[in-house]
Amino acid sequence: MSERQPIDAEPVEYDCEDVSVLVVGAGAAGARAAIELAQRGVDDVLVLGKRGHGDAHTTWARGGINGALGTHDPEDSPAIHAADTLNEGHFVNDPAKVETVTEQMPERLRELDEWGMAYSRTEDGEIDQRFFGAQSFRRTAFAGDHTGESMLNALVDRAQELSVPYRENVMITKLVSDGDAVHGAVGFDMDTGEFVLFNAGTVVLAAGGHAAIYNRHTSRDDENNGDGAALAYDAGASLMDMEFIQFHPTGMAVDEDDPEWEPWSGRLVTEAVRGEGGRLFNAEGERFMERYSPDQMELDARDVVARAIAQEVAEGRGTENGGVYLDISHRDAEFIEERLPRMYERFDDLGVDMAEEPVEVAPTSHYGMGGVAVDDHGETDVDGLFAIGETMAGVHGANRLGGNSLAETVAYGVVAGERIADRADGPGTVPDDLRESLVEPHFRELRAMANNDGEHDVGAVLADLRELMWEHAGILRDEASLREGLDRLAAVRDRATDLDVGPVTSETFEFAVDLGFMTVAAEAVLRGALEREESRGAHFRTDYPDVDGDWRRNVHFDAADVGGMRLRTEPVDEPSEAVQAALDEGHELDYHQLE
Ligand code: FUM
Repeated sequence: MSERQPIDAEPVEYDCEDVSVLVVGAGAAGARAAIELAQRGVDDVLVLGKRGHGDAHTTWARGGINGALGTHDPEDSPAIHAADTLNEGHFVNDPAKVETVTEQMPERLRELDEWGMAYSRTEDGEIDQRFFGAQSFRRTAFAGDHTGESMLNALVDRAQELSVPYRENVMITKLVSDGDAVHGAVGFDMDTGEFVLFNAGTVVLAAGGHAAIYNRHTSRDDENNGDGAALAYDAGASLMDMEFIQFHPTGMAVDEDDPEWEPWSGRLVTEAVRGEGGRLFNAEGERFMERYSPDQMELDARDVVARAIAQEVAEGRGTENGGVYLDISHRDAEFIEERLPRMYERFDDLGVDMAEEPVEVAPTSHYGMGGVAVDDHGETDVDGLFAIGETMAGVHGANRLGGNSLAETVAYGVVAGERIADRADGPGTVPDDLRESLVEPHFRELRAMANNDGEHDVGAVLADLRELMWEHAGILRDEASLREGLDRLAAVRDRATDLDVGPVTSETFEFAVDLGFMTVAAEAVLRGALEREESRGAHFRTDYPDVDGDWRRNVHFDAADVGGMRLRTEPVDEPSEAVQAALDEGHELDYHQLE
């Protein structure tokens, strides 16, 4: 967090709330953890959301959620799902976490069905499953192209049925930790501006990822700014694999001078368009994936397709708006409206009929594979502090499979919930010395930041940060550019100490807090990318273009004793025998089934 000067020493007023388990984040991961706790009889839980109930980034997840149900392909199994996940994660995923997710998913998908999720169905009424990139079988269950929204609706309904306590419009700004154990969290009510201390023996960070630290991103601007990673790091937990950022191949490529289109720049055009048969063409009309991936074509892994598009554009075969064409017009309008209703509607509103013409797409930042380092139950090395969903690291390795993010949210919601329920023993208490040394000074910093008449516009500084990340830690990286990125980040940090900020309830205040989180996530991405002297999955170093077997390691980021960030690497575990057998069998998607 950027600090204002001078910070006055007057006493600061704040509310206190006592809970046993505080869940920070009200998307799918937070909701599922809270449901698990409630089902296991832990009712002293509070879920905090930055927005209204049911409004979380999960609703933006579109194309589907993976699980080896075998609706169409009965030979699929959790072990093959795990093998695909490891293969496309380029073997730096934690195999135990991967198996935890893949083994649970059939049950998690059926449970969501029981809770009312509006799945798309086969003619026989089964949960339908579609092709998604780099998966050997059709294992992506879906609700049209609004899967996340349907899933969150079902989770919210279930949580309400169980009377899970929920508080809207609260932003957490700091965890109360002595470095060994967590005792709660502090933040502010975004409606009233009141500061709040939550005494909590357990804190679950389900606060999303950090993909919005890039200027082209699929998230909303006020989401996925690295809150979870930065809060955990500040509390003494390690981060891991932050250099692995997923660039989704198909974000909207638009005329940024056109006010109708500009707000859509970078927003997701779901992989389901390609999963339903959509084809990519360059501006010369060539189906260029034939050159990059003749077997898997448009449904190769996201990193492969994103780099292919970037290369087509860089070599002058891109469209006017710096992208390529995605064309599904060989399918009829009825099919598109049924399988891809939101995409169809969005482009229709903008005057483009997907059943008649292609749309323009280009890569966009979508997901951070890295995040907070946790054990098999989602707990960090700070006692009582958990991180789940996109906030945690370990499941996706160097490149995530589409449909595995929603899977991870519910799977790890359950795993963490089970663990916490076994141990939860009433509200935490923030020791007096931490109140004096940490909580109250932090509130004074927040008070000084509010209404600060500083030199720099928050929006402009945020935009600079996002731009430098795109330019220096984008799809292609090299040492010189990453170092320059770190220099530019230092300049951003400098300006962040003197911002022009409104009251606590203002958007500028929220964005100033975000900026503090984003600089931590950005530094880790830049430094991790510099450290990893190889290319693997989504991390491509033009000065080290090959995979290096010695780099089958995870990069950890620890807070150093005196400022700064300390990096170390750890080897990766081997998969179980069952998953190794599935890997040896060599399953692979045959794209041409879609033709
Ligand atoms: O393209 C999509 O629908 C994204 C899905 C995902 O990232 O899992």
